[in-house]
Amino acid sequence: MGIELRGLAGKKVLITGGAKGQGFNHAKAFAEAGCDVAIIDICKPIDQIYGLSTPEMMASAVKAVEDRGQRGIGLPCDIRNEDEVQAAVGKALDAFDGVINILVNNAGIAALDFIHQMRSETLHAVIDTCLKGTMFVTKYAVDNMIGRREGKIINISSAVTGSGHAMLSHYVAAKHAVNGLTTSWATELAEFNINVNAICPATIRPGEGQGSGMVSGLSGEMGMDPEDAFETFSGGNMAGEKWRCEMQHITDAVLFLASTNADMITGTILPVDCGQMSK
Ligand SMILES: NC(=O)c1ccc[n+]([C@@H]2O[C@H](COP(=O)([O-])OP(=O)(O)OC[C@H]3O[C@@H](n4cnc5c(N)ncnc54)[C@H](O)[C@@H]3O)[C@@H](O)[C@H]2O)c1
Repeated sequence: MGIELRGLAGKKVLITGGAKGQGFNHAKAFAEAGCDVAIIDICKPIDQIYGLSTPEMMASAVKAVEDRGQRGIGLPCDIRNEDEVQAAVGKALDAFDGVINILVNNAGIAALDFIHQMRSETLHAVIDTCLKGTMFVTKYAVDNMIGRREGKIINISSAVTGSGHAMLSHYVAAKHAVNGLTTSWATELAEFNINVNAICPATIRPGEGQGSGMVSGLSGEMGMDPEDAFETFSGGNMAGEKWRCEMQHITDAVLFLASTNADMITGTILPVDCGQMSK
């Protein structure tokens, strides 16, 4: 007997960073499961950071949701800016009759800096996106969940929170903060029947175009080919060829945590990490 994910059809989903990379993959999977999907994404560059989403990628992501027979809404927004977040989440709520059932805080960026040479632009960009952006979006998206006594929040952290990583201290610290937000919100929101969990992905195989861009982006700074950088960053995984992480591995975990199959799971920091964090 197979196990199917229950309770996803008809749900209203808000995903940050959904115009490319893992967030785009999650958006398509939610649409296939019968969910309407609102996508928040920056659609412009951030100084000193590798290429992020574009307006064309947002249009293509919305179309991908619509092509699967669901409502897709594109909300260009820099989650570092609280006013922009308030306006974008407000538009999602207007479009979805005041309901967001599932929030996926996926948008995130990384950079490579030694602490003694830390660029202020990258320090602020990483902390403001990964930490404050996650807080801003949740602040405005959670009210309706509290009012309706129902909701699922999934934060995308990282397997880097399992150990130290040279040149990534801003990113590692920001992702530790995401784990802290997760357990704190799980405790705070439990009485409103809201589940809050985090996923810690291993290094994800990079893709071109709308594929996952973080490793390719960092590989540029390292003067490496993206596939070589992927192998280098995957060095902390369990030994053996099997242990390489693709976007779909994370999407499967996101949809599971969003489904009613995971109703009794909250406050969990779930590694989908090729064993990295257990070593
Ligand atoms: N790629 C990896 O190896 C890896 C590993 C562990 C965790 N993660 C995490 O997974 C998530 C997705 O990463 P990805 O691999 O898909 O990278 P990606 O760069 O392909 O996608 C990130 C998305 O977030 C958006 N974004 C970035 N800053 C934003 C901002 N300030 N406001 C709004 N949108 C913004 C980008 O435009 C992009 O669409 C991130 O949180 C990342 O930290 C990635």
